[in-house]
Amino acid sequence: MIYLNGDFMPLEEARIPVLDRGFIFGDGVYEVIPVYSRKPFRLAEHLLRLRHSLDGIRLPNPHSDDEWTSLVEQIIARNESDDQYLYLHITRGVAKRDHAFPKDVLPTVFIMSNPLLAPPKELLTTGVAAITTGDNRWLRCDIKAISLLPNVLLRQMAIDAGAVETVLLRDGFMTEGAASNIFVVRNETLLAPPKNNLMLPGITYDVVLELAAAHNIAYQVRAVSEYEVRTAQELLLTSSTKEIMPITHLDGKPVGDGKPGSMFALLYQLYQNYKITIMRGGASIS
Ligand SMILES: Cc1ncc(COP(=O)(O)O)c(C=O)c1O
Repeated sequence: MIYLNGDFMPLEEARIPVLDRGFIFGDGVYEVIPVYSRKPFRLAEHLLRLRHSLDGIRLPNPHSDDEWTSLVEQIIARNESDDQYLYLHITRGVAKRDHAFPKDVLPTVFIMSNPLLAPPKELLTTGVAAITTGDNRWLRCDIKAISLLPNVLLRQMAIDAGAVETVLLRDGFMTEGAASNIFVVRNETLLAPPKNNLMLPGITYDVVLELAAAHNIAYQVRAVSEYEVRTAQELLLTSSTKEIMPITHLDGKPVGDGKPGSMFALLYQLYQNYKITIMRGGASIS
């Protein structure tokens, strides 16, 4: 079951007018929220990021956090899987085609759920391949905009090369992946680029840094150069649906010894433990 503008219905019955500004302009924002054992993971943080995205496109938030929470709970209850990922999508609504904002138009609000499958174990033991390319996106990558054409093309470059992700480089520094954040390990230290307008502030990214801080793992949040990426001991990618994955080949060359490293193994385990804490009703990282 999905939610669309006030009603719950089967996905097949959902209809959107062709003049929806999401369809015409890609004028909207979205969120992806993982759900484990029917509990939304880091919901407050996802709703805060949604607010930031809506502010970024000057679209008033159609719901309070309590209303969003209630909608999220209802969608979870109406779908079968215990582990789900929720997709929340808000557009500037339906109006005659004109770039300028329409007046007195209600936003379109759409929520769907899909089963969340853990990444295959074999990918965690072999790692995945990534490629690099220039980051040709706009300068507001901190907004989770539905207009994802650059990300679609950049991710497809990876698929065409037999890889799973494209690591993006801008002006000699790494920004993020086409649909993930990227961490670099050098000298047993975890390096993360600072959150700014050139990358999406990942919720998983935050969890990883909090886990590192709580477990005395050396880390630095600072600009990471292309050279540091290419000569890394380990590369990790993070996202809500992929959690933490080791990148073991970059542009066809092994990263470190070409096997998932000890930083990955440690953070992966800490992340799994943290998920279990959350499922049992705990919240804080310790
Ligand atoms: C461009 C981009 N960066 C980073 C991420 C990771 O963000 P999160 O950990 O909140 O899923 C995503 C998520 O899909 C993304 O699309």
